[in-house]
Amino acid sequence: MSVIKKAVFPVAGLGTRFLPVAKASPKEMLPIVDKPLIQYAAEEALSAGVTHLIFVTGRNKRSIEDHFDKAYELEADLERRNKTELLESVRNILPSNASCAYIRQPEALGLGHAVLCAKPAVGNEPFAVLLADDLFDATPTVLQQMMQVYNQQGHSVLGIQNVPREQTDRYGVIDAEPVGSGVYKVRGLVEKPAPKQAPSTLAIVGRYILTPRIFSCLEHIGRGAGGEYQLTDAIAALLEHEPVFGHEFTGKRYDCGSKFGYLQATVEYALRHPELKDRFREYLKNLEL
Ligand code: G1P
Repeated sequence: MSVIKKAVFPVAGLGTRFLPVAKASPKEMLPIVDKPLIQYAAEEALSAGVTHLIFVTGRNKRSIEDHFDKAYELEADLERRNKTELLESVRNILPSNASCAYIRQPEALGLGHAVLCAKPAVGNEPFAVLLADDLFDATPTVLQQMMQVYNQQGHSVLGIQNVPREQTDRYGVIDAEPVGSGVYKVRGLVEKPAPKQAPSTLAIVGRYILTPRIFSCLEHIGRGAGGEYQLTDAIAALLEHEPVFGHEFTGKRYDCGSKFGYLQATVEYALRHPELKDRFREYLKNLEL
């Protein structure tokens, strides 16, 4: 079984749920306290042994490239002013063995299309996909947990969360049988089913480990839910060739693709931030609501 070294970050979405802030800035650069969402996702990938980060970008996403690049002027300035901690925080965003590649998705045609754009950079090896607007507080990280399942099963693994039935139309939902603690063998899956039609309440969260056969499946799917090329439909096609597993992660997920989830993450991460936590807790306590 191959070791997973590559992770794909689809970041070309239009961010319509975060307008107007996402008009000219990528929603993946929205900060949770002092780090952008995309950095949390990159750190999770690195935690699981990934060394090649592949960003599928679109218009207005240049700040993501700049974020992971060297910032000579800023570093020189911080060095001159002896701001060592700040200097480290910008210098060490990525370890020296990590590399980044950027691929342009010319049109936002859906998650499936975005992942297919990464094919030349991924090649013929298994890889991870991380959606930065799903933020997880988990130890081990969700991708580390999924790597364990991948190492046991040797097949694709989807991150799964049990959601309230009335929310199934926001997610890809699996039909599956449990095969171990928190591990499911997927029988089928459907993108954004209405609550009554959903095969279960086990929803796919934005973490995937996929075998390279997914690319030929992506090449053959038509437009699905919302008129977009859906990764979920390609995984359904993959199931006809090889097994796919689901892993119900342990930890907490923040849906930072929604304003409410984003605010929850901001408040809870601030309450844990070494510099801010005491003052912020005090502030919340005294807030007259
Ligand atoms: C995407 C996927 C969906 C998945 C979700 C997780 O949907 O298409 O299957 O459940 O991410 O966040 P989106 O949130 O982009 O509409």
